[in-house]
Order: sequence, then structure tokens, then C-alpha cells
Amino acid sequence: MDKLRITGGQRLHGEITVSGAKNAALPILCATLLTADTVTLHNAPELRDIDTTLKLLSQLGVHVERNAESVTIRANELNSLEAPYELVKTMRASILVLGPLLARFGEARVSLPGGCAIGQRPVDQHIKGLEAMGADIHIEHGFVVAKAKRLKGAVIRTDMVTVTGTENLLMAATLAEGETILENAAREPEIVDLAELLIAMGAKISGHGTDRITIQGVERLHGAEHTIMPDRIEAGTFLCAVAATGGDLMLRRACPDTLGATLDKLREAGLHIETGPDWVRGTMYGRPKATGFRTSEYPSFPTDMQAQLMALNTIADGTAMVVETIFENRFMHVQELIRLGAQIEIDGNAAVVTGVSQLLGARVMATDLRASASLVIAGLAAKGDTIIERIYHLDRGYDRMESKLQAVGAQIERLTKEEE
Ligand code: EPU
Repeated sequence: MDKLRITGGQRLHGEITVSGAKNAALPILCATLLTADTVTLHNAPELRDIDTTLKLLSQLGVHVERNAESVTIRANELNSLEAPYELVKTMRASILVLGPLLARFGEARVSLPGGCAIGQRPVDQHIKGLEAMGADIHIEHGFVVAKAKRLKGAVIRTDMVTVTGTENLLMAATLAEGETILENAAREPEIVDLAELLIAMGAKISGHGTDRITIQGVERLHGAEHTIMPDRIEAGTFLCAVAATGGDLMLRRACPDTLGATLDKLREAGLHIETGPDWVRGTMYGRPKATGFRTSEYPSFPTDMQAQLMALNTIADGTAMVVETIFENRFMHVQELIRLGAQIEIDGNAAVVTGVSQLLGARVMATDLRASASLVIAGLAAKGDTIIERIYHLDRGYDRMESKLQAVGAQIERLTKEEE
């Protein structure tokens, strides 16, 4: 298993190009199942989760052609309507094929995702919403088995705000008969990106980006071309990195409009930020200031940035309280940060971080995607060598992170099995 070795203490200087957003690309790839025509996507990031999704689509019989950052997909004839356990267990977002398959083919079998490191993450709201649209759904032998002649529009109010839940129901509703209203919908920019692709495919959608999305079902959707939005979490991660190491980082192909709460918090921490239509520049001198925060749904501070901003707080001047409200077990990075010398106490869903003047490199283990990113940030700021094990988590969601960081002066290298 690959590891990362980071020799901390280098300031970051230079430019990084932000990749396409993982969490926009995943639903968008699944949305291509809604039409028999060709859909062409640009700015697709090179990530393990994208490879897994393309593999899943191929197994269903979809034609997939990848050419650098573009992917051409044609789901004209499928040979299976099943998402198997082997793929779903490695990537929960596979549940996103449920809505499109059911809506277009009247049938789908998707392995029920198990629990995962950051929490239980049930899919009951996806199921409840599809049932409200007339689907007959059972759990059989570990699979969600769904059937419907044609889905019917409905008013659906999810019990909580769910991102992939909203996406699954939005996709399903585009081909349903009549009007669907999604209340308590997620407002994340990735939902807006998905809705824009669906509209380009002929869907009738309004209210995306608000908590009430209205969809008028159509008989069929057609092909389209779409450019995937920039990854706001990748951008936020690099900004936390420069805030931790000091230096001057220019992020190209970023979308500052989607980064509001993250930029606010980083400014509070002392990062000087300038923005343009498609760039963000972060400059840092001196020690960061402790910055407390609470994760919540968009437009509040994202749970996907919690671990990274916590890493910054470990070396900040002062004490900060971090509250995680979205996932019940998203503090697994804490024990690893403590191995680097951080002072953190956890009480339920709150963590109190008291900044230390210097972290010291150590051997640590990545436990999930964003936890891995927080360890990279801490390692870049620590004195000496940090070895991060199990970085396959990082490869799921960051596009060539170590080469991007190397290019701006970080001492970071990937060690394969034999090296070290
Ligand atoms: N929930 C339920 N029932 C459901 C759906 C969700 O109880 O049917 C609960 C979840 O357990 C959680 C809360 O509702 O406590 C919110 O979960 P949500 O459904 O919004 O999460 P998700 O759609 O599974 C997406 C991202 C996550 C991100 C969350 C929150 C994708 C592919 N994944 O997950 O991204 O953390 O929204 O913003 O879009 C990551 O990229 O590292 C990542 C985990």
C-alpha cells in the first residue's frame, strides 16, 4: 500500500490548477443513464472514485470513452440494471444509479451500502422519496430492489437535508409523469451543477440552489455537453495548506462563489485572500489565529472541510471549538493529529483544539478521505518527516495531490511498497 512522506517546514509558493469537483462529477456521471444519447463531460477529475463510477457504468453496459479530462458516455443499451456489492462497498455514491435506472428502465438493483468510517449513512430518505413517486421497493439479500412502471410526480419532504438523496430524487423526477417538488432540498453547488446538466439534457427544473426544487417530468432526455464545476473542497484544502505553512498560493480554475464559508473562516485565521471570477489567491505571514466553527449544510461551513481547518487550528494561536453536526463519527483524524503533537479533546460532537507552536513529524494513518487531507496539511507544517499510511483514501478524492503540492515547493513524495 502506498504511503506519503512529507518533510515539513516548506512555505508554499506558486500556482495550482483546481480539478473538477468529485461530488459534482459522481452524480453527473450517473445522470448519463437517463438518456440513450451521448453525453460529453469536460473537466472530469482523475480520481479513484471516478474510475469506480466509470467501471460501474461499464458493467451496466454503458459505452464509456475517456480522453484526458473529457469523458464521452452513451447509455443506449444496458445489459444489467444492478450495482453489485463489490463496487458499492468501495464507494457509497454508487447509490446514485438507483434514481436514474428506475426512472428510465423501471427497475434497479443496488447493493445496500454498509456503514462507513465517518458514520452510519443510511439511504432511507432516497428510498422514501422514490416510494412517494410510486416505486415498489424491497430490501432483498442486501440489495435495494426497486420497480416502477413509470414514476409519478410527488411532493417530497426529506426528514433531513441530504445531498445525494436530493440528487437521486432530482434525477428520478426528470422522467416522472407530472410535477415533483423536493422540499428541504440540499442547496450545495454540486446540486446546481447536476441540475444544469439535466436542463441541458432537456429536463424542466427550477429552484435548484434553493431548498425547494420543482421538476416537471418529461418523456425523454437527450444528449448534452457539460463542464464539471471546480472542486471547492480541493481548493479549500490547498488554502488551509498555505495558511498552515505560510507563503503565497494562486489557485486557478477555482470558483470563489462556492467557497464563502471556507473563505470567511480562513480570513478569520489570518489568511489574506483575494478573488477573481475564476481564481483565489491566499497569502499568509505569521502564525494562524484559532478559529472555531460548526459544520452544517451549504451555505454554512462544509463538513468536508472540517478536518482540514482543524489541522490548521492545531498550530494556531489560541483555542478553538469545532462542532461536527453532519456525521456522527467524523473525528478520526484527531487521534492521528495528536500523534503529531496536537492538543485536542473530544466531547461528543465537539472538539476543543488548543494550538501548539510546533507539530513534530510522526508516522500516522489515513482513515478517510478528508482525514487524509488534514494529515497532509499537518505534515506540511510539522518539523521533520511525517509518513502517512493508507493514502488510497486520498486517491479517492484528490487529483494528483502530491504532484500539485510538489510544484509549489512542498517536500512530499509517494512511497510505493518497496521504498521507505
Ligand atoms: N442521512 C440519512 N438518511 C439518508 C440520507 C442521509 O440519515 O437517506 C443522513 C446522513 O447519515 C448524514 C446526513 O443525513 O448524517 C447528511 O448526509 P448526506 O446524505 O447529505 O451525505 P451524502 O449525500 O451521503 C455527500 C457527499 C459527502 C459530504 C456530504 C455532506 C457526495 C458523493 N458525498 O454525502 O462527501 O460529506 O454530502 O455534505 O456528494 C467527501 O467528499 O469526503 C464526502 C464524504
